[in-house]
Formats: sequence, C-alpha cells, structure tokens
Amino acid sequence: MADSRNQLNCAVSRRTAFRGLAGFLAGSSLLAYQQDPFRDHSRVPALGEMVEAFDFEPVAFAKLPRQSYDYLSYGVDGEFTLRRNREAFDWVKLVPRIPSGPVTVNPASSLLGLKLAFPMFLAPVRQIGFHPEAEAATHAGATAASNTPMIVSNAASLPVGKIAAAATGPLWFQLYPQPGPDYNRKTLDEALAVGCRAIVVTIDQQASFYERSQHDRNLATSATPVPMPQSFAPRRAPGNPYRVLDGRLWYEWKLFDELRAMVKVPLIAKGIVTAEDALLCLEHGVDAIYVSNHGGRSLDYGPATLEVLPEIADAIHGRVPILFDSGIRRGTDILKALALGASAVCLGRPPLWGLAAYGAPGLQKVLEILQTELVQAMAATGRPTLASIDRTLVKTEFL
Ligand code: FNR
Repeated sequence: MADSRNQLNCAVSRRTAFRGLAGFLAGSSLLAYQQDPFRDHSRVPALGEMVEAFDFEPVAFAKLPRQSYDYLSYGVDGEFTLRRNREAFDWVKLVPRIPSGPVTVNPASSLLGLKLAFPMFLAPVRQIGFHPEAEAATHAGATAASNTPMIVSNAASLPVGKIAAAATGPLWFQLYPQPGPDYNRKTLDEALAVGCRAIVVTIDQQASFYERSQHDRNLATSATPVPMPQSFAPRRAPGNPYRVLDGRLWYEWKLFDELRAMVKVPLIAKGIVTAEDALLCLEHGVDAIYVSNHGGRSLDYGPATLEVLPEIADAIHGRVPILFDSGIRRGTDILKALALGASAVCLGRPPLWGLAAYGAPGLQKVLEILQTELVQAMAATGRPTLASIDRTLVKTEFL
C-alpha cells in the first residue's frame, strides 16, 4: 500500500508534463516569432531583426560581462565630450538637391593606395572580453563586409600576425609610441611584416584616465570581479605620481620625423582636433590627418570632432586626406562628416556591439547597415559620388 502511494506521488501528471514542456518552449528560439512583440519576453532578438546600428547595443549589453560592456561604452569623467560627439550630428542639417535624372550611387574611392568600396574603416580598439576570437573575428567580419579595412590596435588582445591570418581584407596598424626608437621599430616591423599597409600614430592619450570610472563603478561593486590587465591599474610610482600611464606624456613633434624615417608606408596622426596641430602634422611628414577625440575617452570638455572638422579641412585644403571618428552611428552621420571635409570615417563602438552580440556576422551586419544607409542618404540628397559631396550639402548650427 505504502509503495503504490509513493508511486502515485512520483508519477508525472499530464499537467506537470505540459507545464514542463511549456517552460522549455518559452525559452526556445523555436517560438521566438510567435510571441507577442509588445510584451517583454526577455529574449535575445535574432540577427535578422536588427535594423539599425543602435539595435545591437542592448544585445551586446545583455551578452557581455558588465565590466566589458562598461569598458566599451563609457567616456572620460562626466562624459560631456562623449555626449557632445553625438549631439553635434543633430546640429548639422542635410539640404538635399533634387536629382535631375536617375541616379546611380557609387560610394567607392581610393585613399593612400587603398581601394575602398565605402569610405569606412574600423577604428583601432583595444578589445577586452568582447568575443572569444577577439580581433580575428573582427577582421573576418570586416572583410566579409566589402573588404572594410581594419586598423589593428597596438594594444590588441591577439598578436598582429594572428589577426592578419584570420582574413584577407586590408589592415593598417595603430601605434602607441614609446620613448626611444627600439620598441617602435620592432613593433612596426612586426606589423609591416604581416602586411599592414599604413601606420596610425595615436597622440591624444597622453594623460587620460578613463579607466577610473570603470574601476569605481564596476570592478569595486561587481559580484564576480574580472581582473583587469596590469596597465589598467593606477600607477603610483614616485616618478609617475599623476596616474598617467608609463610611456606617455613625452611626445614631441620630432617623434614623427623619427617614425617617418622608420617606415615607407603612409603615416597618419590620430587625435588631431585643431587646425594648428593639423598643419604641424604636414610639417613633420604626416600623410593623413585623423580627426578624433578617442570617442570621448581622452579629455572631457573637449569639443565634438564634428565641430572642429570644418576648420581643420579648411587649413589642410585638400593637401592630404582626412580621416574622422567619434560618434558615427548612422549613414547620415557619415554623409555629414564627408560634407564637412572628411575623406573617410572610422567606426569605434558600433562594430563591437555587433561582434559582442552575434560574433563576426553581427559585426558584418553593422557595417552593411551603415553602408546601405550611406548609399540611401547619398541618393536622397542627390549626391551620387563622393566627389559630389561638399559643404553646400549641409547647414551647421553648432551650439
Ligand atoms: C578605443 N580607441 C582606441 N584608439 C586607439 O588609437 N587605440 C586603442 O587601442 C583604442 N582602444 C579603444 C578601446 C575602446 C573600447 C574604445 C571604445 C575606443 C578609440 C577608437 O579608436 C576611436 O577613436 C573611437 O572609438 C571612436 O569613437 P566611437 O566611434 O566609438 O564613438
């Protein structure tokens, strides 16, 4: 008797079985499209549902450890410059011309010997915990998106040779220079040996400390803290009391003279935000100006890059190409930057939202969305080629 009562207790009733099955199906992607879209089912949307670059950020947020997401997202200090980078695009209006006939848009160009299907690059980004295959997956995704060139960070998590082997698209290399020629020469030789075709020298990170906010907001409070690389730890050595990373705060313009003698490929200065510095770059043999404020991660209360782009373009007057980044999220943003003087733009965070959310196919999709949006914006404003994009396309009212 006792045995049969126990059996009854253990038998799975139809209701229990259905409840279990329903619970299983609720979490399954099989039913993803049958759910009520107006309710929050806390599901991760499919890649095919992504419409614009911004759609990828919440998915990246859901998938990344908090520390990695915050490292990717935050700007320095109060994030005024981070916000202003985006706001500046709202202060530039596009004024379309009505096309006089059918328009075939062609956004192709060539820049420093590179043939570009679209005027877009991947900005150099130090990757920490965004994806298991890190920069190798980034390079693969960028190559799949019409051979978008990638600028490999000097602080990449993989050796540059491993990144180069992951895909066939063009690579440039970004250098954080060190005092004395040895480190710079060795690092550049390695990058050039695996096929990097130009060198980008970042000079706007001499004394920034954006890691501070990350430590304060996340690492200290995280339930499962992820140890950060040593270089993130504040340096308190007697010779370095102002929490400036070793190897910074020494640059002089003659650095470019030294680097110029070291490499034959094009040399680009990244982090320029004034016309005066842009002109100094020309005096020191630089082949292109890269207007950037490091995506608002370097100095707070600096201007948005879009605000300073026209005066830099006026000073340079077409003598060398101008690359531009910080805040690009839409095809119309790219068009505005081109109209104000950029030859091409670089993308920092959005491709990494794609990578973190869906791997290399996600990164590819972010780039393809931006490419499609650019073509559409060019068509809508009657500017079929990059050569036809000029300042008459925009009205600026920077606040
Ligand atoms: C960067 N950036 C950067 N720049 C650089 O020259 N070397 C580097 O290693 C890095 N690392 C890095 C890490 C992360 C997480 C971010 C978000 C950015 C700056 C980057 O190249 C670029 O200037 C900005 O990201 C552009 O701004 P948006 O597109 O992110 O708004």
